[in-house]
Amino acid sequence: MASDNQNQTGAEQAYHIGYKEDTLKAFELRNASTCLGYLLSTLESLPPTFSLLDVGCGPGSITFDLARRFPQAKIIGVDLGVEAIERANANIDTHAPGTNIEFRAGNILEPESCLKPDEIGNFDVVHEHTTLICIPNNIEVLRVMKTLAKQDGGIVACREGDTHSQLLWPPLPESAELQERIYQMNGLDTQTGRKLLSKALAVGFRRDQITASASILSNITYQERLLYAGSMLTMLGDETSQYRRAAAKFGYSDEQVEVLRENMRKFIAADDAWRLLVCTEIICRLGGKDS
Ligand SMILES: C[S@@+](CC[C@H](N)C(=O)[O-])C[C@H]1O[C@@H](n2cnc3c(N)ncnc32)[C@H](O)[C@@H]1O
Repeated sequence: MASDNQNQTGAEQAYHIGYKEDTLKAFELRNASTCLGYLLSTLESLPPTFSLLDVGCGPGSITFDLARRFPQAKIIGVDLGVEAIERANANIDTHAPGTNIEFRAGNILEPESCLKPDEIGNFDVVHEHTTLICIPNNIEVLRVMKTLAKQDGGIVACREGDTHSQLLWPPLPESAELQERIYQMNGLDTQTGRKLLSKALAVGFRRDQITASASILSNITYQERLLYAGSMLTMLGDETSQYRRAAAKFGYSDEQVEVLRENMRKFIAADDAWRLLVCTEIICRLGGKDS
């Protein structure tokens, strides 16, 4: 499906719902413990000076946590969103002092926009967390990631979501529907999570090179619920946001938008509320037999 992003700002072109303050804060709740459980023991088994590229690092909370855990590792976060990268760079001294971390703006589909020639094909680990689902034709991203890791022994690791796997209580059906339409409007594959293994095989990883697993991304505490629904609440209140423009485009009246916002307020406040999303995970090791 063609993307419909001609009127988007730079930040929105990078991240389809756009980085507002609440969204940045929501992403900043993420860290290696909550998001990278599947990868940590692999990273711990590497020499401490390993190199890692975080593709589509956003505000960099996972990247920062990795730098704190592995202070001798060379860690680079890249993202198309210039504002998110500027914010991450400004936070290095407070979030990961004395580590070997840096953030660069650039398009991963044009690796030379953010990586030096001698870095390409030389990373021990090339990792992404929920970035593929935000990029149209994301199989190309996976293909590029494969070329950025060391061809003999490098690792490509991904954790991806799938919007159809989402459980919400109390239900927010209009919100889920709107979210789905926004993804489709931007030409995104909302089933990226379930297709992750297929995509890895399609770019040339052998099945014996891949370890696959799954886990849940959750918004359970009041703060997690606030940061999940609060960002959408804010965006729906802003007539210039992608969410609001999509709502208008799909025929939601102002009254319906207000009902949706009220349901989000209830979701944030309810003691019995939670949101759970299945995430799939792959660790692909380059090299090995026959390669
Ligand atoms: C859902 S966010 C994930 C952020 C971070 N990995 C996390 O989980 O907290 C997806 C990120 O991918 C970035 N992105 C989208 N297209 C990109 C591209 N072509 N090159 C680099 N980053 C891109 C977006 O700007 C956004 O920050």
